[in-house]
Amino acid sequence: MCGIFAVVNDPDHHAAQTTLDGLKKLEYRGYDSWGIAVVEHKNGTLAIEKHIGKIGGATTALPAGDIAIGHTRWATHGGVTDGNAHPHVDCSGRIVVIHNGIVENYQELKQMLLRRHHRFTSETDTEVIAHLIEDRVKSESVETAVLGVFKNLAGSNAIVVLDAKTNTIVACRNGSPLAAGVGKGQFFLASDVTPFLKFTRDVVFLADGEAVILTATKLRLLDIKTGKDKRLTPRRLDWKLEDAEKGGYPHFLLKEIMDQVTTVPKTALINRNEIAHVARRLERADRIVFTACGTASYCALAATYFFSGVGRETKSYGAYEYTPFSGFAGKKTVLFAISQSGETADTLIAARNAKARGAYVVAVVNARGSALERLADTTLPVGSGPEIAVVSTKAFTSQLATMYLVSRACTGNYARAVREVQDLGKTLRRWQTKKLRHDVLDLAKTLMNQEDIYIVGKHVSYPAALEVALKIKESSYIHAEPFAAGELKHGVLTLIQKGTPCIAIGANDETRLELLSSAAELRARGGTIIGITPFTSAEFDVTVKTPDAGPLTIIPNVIVGQLLGYYLGIGRGTDPDKPRNLAKSVTVK
Ligand code: M6R
Repeated sequence: MCGIFAVVNDPDHHAAQTTLDGLKKLEYRGYDSWGIAVVEHKNGTLAIEKHIGKIGGATTALPAGDIAIGHTRWATHGGVTDGNAHPHVDCSGRIVVIHNGIVENYQELKQMLLRRHHRFTSETDTEVIAHLIEDRVKSESVETAVLGVFKNLAGSNAIVVLDAKTNTIVACRNGSPLAAGVGKGQFFLASDVTPFLKFTRDVVFLADGEAVILTATKLRLLDIKTGKDKRLTPRRLDWKLEDAEKGGYPHFLLKEIMDQVTTVPKTALINRNEIAHVARRLERADRIVFTACGTASYCALAATYFFSGVGRETKSYGAYEYTPFSGFAGKKTVLFAISQSGETADTLIAARNAKARGAYVVAVVNARGSALERLADTTLPVGSGPEIAVVSTKAFTSQLATMYLVSRACTGNYARAVREVQDLGKTLRRWQTKKLRHDVLDLAKTLMNQEDIYIVGKHVSYPAALEVALKIKESSYIHAEPFAAGELKHGVLTLIQKGTPCIAIGANDETRLELLSSAAELRARGGTIIGITPFTSAEFDVTVKTPDAGPLTIIPNVIVGQLLGYYLGIGRGTDPDKPRNLAKSVTVK
């Protein structure tokens, strides 16, 4: 939620333009409004520009300068107005702040500042930070002032403070992501690495409780509590700039869907040793738990089916519902926390709770350097590269492949599972062609004006149904409701009328006949049945045939749902990369 960018020593002396370009890469984190502050080259004063709306096509007329900060907002406190857009400035015009998170004690801080006659120009929680620092810089260095103020903020926050007087940026992290890029004579800060990949791949991921100070000559890493310097060791990322570009596709979402022909098989080539290590841990475990949110939670659910296939009973919980059950975690618990970003607040809380009770935590993540990775005992990076579209696609299928490999490693079948995932990669490459896209587009045209779509699946195809429904909802805003096929008779059938679109998702497994019975029941009530399966059937009015990949058929089945969501969204005029009301990374509870 909210994207942060900063540059020091801009390569072209146009820090505002660099910041605008950087923010465009972060728009997926929030797109209610955006703003930039730059220290004017000519006279050293602050120039600020703020606007509501998406940053995509924006230009800036801000003056030349070498140092700037910028923000793209996902509103929490205060409506979507120019005034509430970040950056926020103090009364003197010296201190300017951008922020990702929620200052939970902002009301009491604001009352105290009002009594001291500070003038507020927004309704945000963020603005208190600028005024608090303003008071302290009268008698302290900006570094000491920012660290002092940050320690008194309640909640999960990342802040970036620009001091126009000393041309210094101070940034602090507690709970919201921040990465610093170390370029050739330039420094960058951002909520994730994609906006500065074009300048550098040398990155310092800040941990909670760390701060960085950026000046024209130096980047320092500090411990917020002690104020002492820490060793700064940038790590070189293997992500390429092209990974964060659209690569000729009209939207990131379509590009990332198509990327899966390479990202899925790539998953099988990484984590060999880590998976072997986790498998040994699982041998000793008496409780195996998966936890996650949203799309990742459907991977968690799918993992329970993968593990039941190798004779292990496991549990999956939405991370936001884990607290009542965290008390069951102990030293022999292995908890898998699955997350694309590794920064989802609820998932982090669940993992921390389990760890506090002695559980062994495995992070299954895509983005690197995240808070989840730091707290985990072992990390299994899924390696699908930057996922820019808010709607998660390629990270999900790589998470599925990873969890499949882990489950098979438990019974000594890891090598075979690796071959299965790699074979699936080859199959996807043959199948994910223009023809598939045209077929799904044609299907989308028939569903474009529907208000409700029902989706059923059984066993591992049930999490597929949940995920396909979420893709349709997020991308097109059509109400799509998933059910376990077996649930239909217990009430849901009342909703089916003549022409109601029903999607039946299935694999060539023991559920095939039961799925077809469910399809028949839906059809008998007038439903129009769309099969997403590796087989055809007279029960289906339309079939999108998927490759048969055994338990991994869930991957091509979900890919059809991803494409369907995408084309429905295009047809209904939504922005598939940035669905309304959503942010890519949900770093607040
Ligand atoms: O970064 P995470 O995987 O932890 O994010 C979890 C969910 O917020 C995320 O999957 C969300 O549901 C996406 N919008 C799904 O497309």
